[in-house]
Amino acid sequence: MDQAKGLRQIAKTDALARRKAQASPTKKFPRVIAVTSGKGGVGKTNIVGNLAVAMAAKGKRVIIIDADVGLANIDIVFNLRPEYNIRHVVSSEKSLDQVMIKTRHGIGIIPGGSGFADLTQLDEGEKLTLLSEFETLADQADIIFVDTGAGISSNVLYFNAASDECMVVATTEPTSITDAYALMKVMSQKYGSRYFKLIVNMADSEKDAKRVYASLSNALDKFLKNVVLEYTGYIPFDRQLQRAVQKRGLLLDEFPNSMAANALETIASKILNSGDQKRSDGNLTFFMNRVFQAAM
Ligand SMILES: Nc1ncnc2c1ncn2[C@@H]1O[C@H](COP(=O)(O)OP(=O)(O)OP(=O)(O)O)[C@@H](O)[C@H]1O
Ligand SMILES: [Mg+2]
Repeated sequence: MDQAKGLRQIAKTDALARRKAQASPTKKFPRVIAVTSGKGGVGKTNIVGNLAVAMAAKGKRVIIIDADVGLANIDIVFNLRPEYNIRHVVSSEKSLDQVMIKTRHGIGIIPGGSGFADLTQLDEGEKLTLLSEFETLADQADIIFVDTGAGISSNVLYFNAASDECMVVATTEPTSITDAYALMKVMSQKYGSRYFKLIVNMADSEKDAKRVYASLSNALDKFLKNVVLEYTGYIPFDRQLQRAVQKRGLLLDEFPNSMAANALETIASKILNSGDQKRSDGNLTFFMNRVFQAAM
């Protein structure tokens, strides 16, 4: 074997070994949790913001991706004014680190802007840029929340499909329940998603919340065999949350002893205690890679 060929061979096996090591089950990726809903305005953004604050207070490194291409609002909930967003990362003007804002809790916020608007329209170079930039998040977070838009638009579906866990938010309103069902139905039919978690928001009581859970899981049992919905918890309707929003603050900061704040703390602990429920399909590629796979 000539020397150059030998060197090339060594380089090749080296690269392979490195890739294998990276993909080994011992490599710890952050847990990516999409928070989503069928109907809009059910409280996703406030839930994400407050769960992130509760988890950061417990020492977890948390990053929030604002994947709602409509009116971006996780920044409003944290009273931030982002200068840059994912669009600047796609165009290589900024790195993801330069776009990410840190809140005073130490939470990283990635403003999506219109940057996620149509992922299928990105050219190969832009995709590679996003992939390699998102790869850098793997070492920076324990938990990544994705605040998706509402409904069944392609973008929402990609982000849900790419996340490790899909947390559906519904209220006790019938339209919110039927829309949550429709979302899970599309996810299961298009992407084979089988596990969902449910948070019932703005409920009057746990009994009402459990009723929402029962009607959803009954419908799933009946019409979509193999789809499992787990009840994560409920948050009561609480005017303090609305007051916090009006003050441009987060409930956990403004009214930490309110009923809804207690409920959010309980849900945060429950999620953390439920441990690392990694994707069961053994897919060890990191988040943005899976988004593009879903978008194919
Ligand atoms: N537990 C609650 N108690 C009382 N009001 C609530 C509660 N949760 C949310 N709200 C109200 O609902 C509003 C909408 O919440 P939020 O913006 O978090 O919803 P969203 O699902 O992110 O909406 P969108 O679909 O537009 O992104 C809040 O500004 C607040 O007034
Ligand atoms: Mg929102």
